[in-house]
Amino acid sequence: MAQGSNHRRNLPGLLLALCFAAAAYATADGSWLKRVPDADRARTNPYAGQADAIAAGGRVFLDHCAKCHGADAEGRGKKPSLRSSRVQGAADGEIFWLLKNGNLGKGMPTWSKLPEETRWQVTAYVKSLGKSGLFSYAARRDRREGQ
Ligand code: HEC
Repeated sequence: MAQGSNHRRNLPGLLLALCFAAAAYATADGSWLKRVPDADRARTNPYAGQADAIAAGGRVFLDHCAKCHGADAEGRGKKPSLRSSRVQGAADGEIFWLLKNGNLGKGMPTWSKLPEETRWQVTAYVKSLGKSGLFSYAARRDRREGQ
């Protein structure tokens, strides 16, 4: 590590290195949400809640997303769960934006090569999962029982 006057000169480099280290080691913190432009956030999913679109999105999920986020979407290590309050509470337009742009610095690839339609279908699928845990179990049971 640099010392004395070298230290001062190297400070920007050191800070940069720290930033990269922080990005590499940080767990997902949802900071990407702040980068979504308002116009994108406001977009609505033309397939929201449609069973056939959700099924199509599920197939894409298994092909492209499960290897990182898990087939159950509960996340693996530094790859976050998609059944968190953050993701389930995000607007469809926000998730769609993330799929298009990715968050490469934190390990989330871009999916801009998938057709828009496919990205909306995956978004619908992710949202259909609901939150994990007891709460969502109860919510699903209530839905099944028509309450
Ligand atoms: C190579 C591994 C990898 C693949 C494949 C991948 N992701 Fe991710 N994904 C990540 C990582 C790592 C993050 C955390 C990024 C961050 O910290 O902001 C992430 C974040 C996300 C988030 C935001 C989660 C949060 O809590 O902020 C969503 C939504 C998401 N991914 C959906 C998907 C979908 C849908 C696919 C498939 C089309 C997919 N991902 C494929 C690694 C991956």
